[in-house]
Parts: sequence; C-alpha cells; structure tokens
Amino acid sequence: MALARALLAAVSSVARQSESKISIAQRGFASASIVNGVPVEVHNDSGSKRVVVTKSLPGDRWLQYLVNADCRVEVCKHPDIILSNATIKQLLGTKCDGVIGQLTEDWGAELFEALRQAGGKAYSNYAVGYNNVKVEEATKRGIPVGNTPGVLTETTAELAAALTLAAARRVVEADVFMRAGLYKGWLPTLFVGQLLQNKTVGIIGAGRIGASYARMMVEGHKMNLVYYDPYPNKQLEEYIRMYGELLRHRGEPPVAVRRVETVEEVLQEADVVSLHCNLDASTRHLINAKRLALMKKDAVLVNAARGPCIDEAALVAHLKANPDFRCGLDVFEDEPAMKAGLADCPNAVIVPHIASASMWTRSGMATLAAANVAGVLSGYPVWNKVDILPFVEKPMSSVPQAAPSIVNAKELGLKLVADA
Ligand code: DGY
Repeated sequence: MALARALLAAVSSVARQSESKISIAQRGFASASIVNGVPVEVHNDSGSKRVVVTKSLPGDRWLQYLVNADCRVEVCKHPDIILSNATIKQLLGTKCDGVIGQLTEDWGAELFEALRQAGGKAYSNYAVGYNNVKVEEATKRGIPVGNTPGVLTETTAELAAALTLAAARRVVEADVFMRAGLYKGWLPTLFVGQLLQNKTVGIIGAGRIGASYARMMVEGHKMNLVYYDPYPNKQLEEYIRMYGELLRHRGEPPVAVRRVETVEEVLQEADVVSLHCNLDASTRHLINAKRLALMKKDAVLVNAARGPCIDEAALVAHLKANPDFRCGLDVFEDEPAMKAGLADCPNAVIVPHIASASMWTRSGMATLAAANVAGVLSGYPVWNKVDILPFVEKPMSSVPQAAPSIVNAKELGLKLVADA
C-alpha cells in the first residue's frame, strides 16, 4: 500500500514536471531577429498568425494567450522609446494579423490602413485610455480595437493619493533638501504643509478610478467629498453615507458627499481636487487660468488622467504666483515634455506617467491586451461583463473564450458573450 502511494506520488510528480516542460516548450524560446529591417524578439516561431507587439510587456501570461491562439509573436526592440509611424509601418510589413500598441503611438488612418493592407484583423491598445486611437478609422477598416479596463483602478487611485499626500505635505521638496545636506536641525517652520483630515476632497469624474480615489481619501482622511460628473455615482454616494453613519455612531464627526452641477463648484469648495475624466474635446483645458483662479490659494490639484485636461502653461503661472498652491502631476500636456518653468516650481510634484505602474496592473494590462488580440483572431465573441478578472486570474485552462474588451464591438456588429 505504502509502495503504491509512493509510486503514485512519483508518477504525478513526473506528470507535473512534464506539464511545466510542455508549457515552456509551447511558449517556445525567444530569439532575436531582424524583421523588415527592425530588431525584434520572436516567440513561438512557428505560429501561423503574426502578432506584432510594439514594446516589451511585463509578465508572461500575456504570451500564453497568444501562443495558445497559434500566434508567432514579435516584440519590437527598436531603440526609439516612442516609435514613429514610419517605423511601425515598416514593422507591420506585408503580413501582420494583429498588433498590441502603446498610448504613445498615433493609431489613426495611416497606421490602420497599413495594418489593413497587411491583412490585420485586430488591434489592442496597451492602456485603458485610447485617446491616441482614432477608433472610427479602425472601424471603417473592419478592425476591432481593444483596451484594458478593470485592472488599473486601485493602482491608479493609489498613485493619485500618493501625489496628493506628497504635494500637501511637501515630501519631494523636503527630500531634495535632505539630499542637499541642508538639514541643520528641527525647526517649527520647516516644510509646513496642509493637513487633509476632515477637509474636503473634490473629484472631477466619478467613474471607477475617481470613485476608488475618493474612497481612499474619505476613508483614510475622513474628508468630505464634493464631485462633478454628468452621471451620479449612487454606489459611491451610498457608501460614503453609510461610512458617515458609522463615524456618527462612534461619536466622530461624520463625512458627507455631494454631487454638484458644475466644475466651478468643486473648484471653489475643495481643498484637494483630483481629475479623473477622459480626455475629449469637452475636457481639453478643463482646468484653465480662469478656473484655477477660483480655487483656494492653498489648494492641491492632482492629475493622473490625461495631461491636456489642464492648460499647463496657465498652471505654471498659477504655481509661480501662488507659492502655497500645490499640484501633483502624473501626466503632461505635451508628454513627455513639460511646459517651460514647470520643473522649476518647488510646489509641483511631477512623476513620469506611472499611475498604473504596479506589477499586478501592468502585467494584467498585458494579459488583457493579448487576450483581446488572441480572442479576435480566434473568432471568439466579446466579453460583455464588467468583471474582467477571470482573464487575469483563472488558470489558463479555464479562461473565458472571449475577447475581454473591444471598444468598437457594437459598431462592427461583433457577437457578445451573452448572445454567443
Ligand atoms: C491608461 O491605461 O490609460 C494609462 O494612462 C496607462 O497608465
């Protein structure tokens, strides 16, 4: 009996080992190559569909999706950080079935036409935002466009919260001071900033990320919330009301939530304002000189949405004229450049578009982008549910047979999971 158990254990251990060997073999070995004159790393050399990935992506689950869909995957190794349209077209060549591209690339008529001519049937942005994509140009050419929602929420909200605290408490200024060897002893007046507790946080845009940020600030710092969004977020309001009740019950000052009719009301009332809107014609320069002038002199403005939502030159002028006003910026109007003078403002905390940069989120984004391309190339329907985590967390053997998020599914008349 004992011998039988030992044999069984030995057999299943060999089976497990060969399973993992198979999955490594299935991925194939990556090899360096030059394709169409562009350096690439090739995975699954013998795959029958060619998928181009314009930048290296974190994690390796994303690659499994593409290999399982019989794709040969070419990851671009061109030294330019931002690829020009000319380089991307060269890379696509005359046969390319699908592409995973970046938010720094200009996916409009020129690139979608090149993709169509190469026989391309799928594109996914490696981002939840897709203001770099002219979706109508893809739709015109019958190309589904994917994005990566549902895995950026908390990570992005955390960075917005980090920027808020860093700006309010002057963390970066103080760090620079220490490193310069300027600290000669404790002083009552050294780097005095703003207390957030029990103040008012304002958000513009109360979607997933905005709501998550709002909860972090309300729950963490007992702040009241004032928000502007064309649509009410009833769940968020209800949550904050219940939290307020809990505080009241405990004898603490309760928190309150209020949705207002205008951006101006948020700017006038809030001690901290964080932007969580999409970038479109209605939100370009949403924060301009006139609106900055409405804000409290010692307010904190945070932007982890998109750079052009703020008139950055006007912000620089405002920061210079109001030394107690502070901002935390993850994104910039002319990214990667900053407007003249911004880098000289000690009252600005500036980071290079890293709001989604946690390992879990960045590899989750890669997984969703790859599942979008693999799903479309496999002829799967489009996932029609808010919960996208099965793609990221389930064992590969039981992931949904669907493309997780295709933004032009309706326009292209693609089948949805519900009616598949
Ligand atoms: C997105 O996905 O839109 C983010 O800006 C990338 O972090």
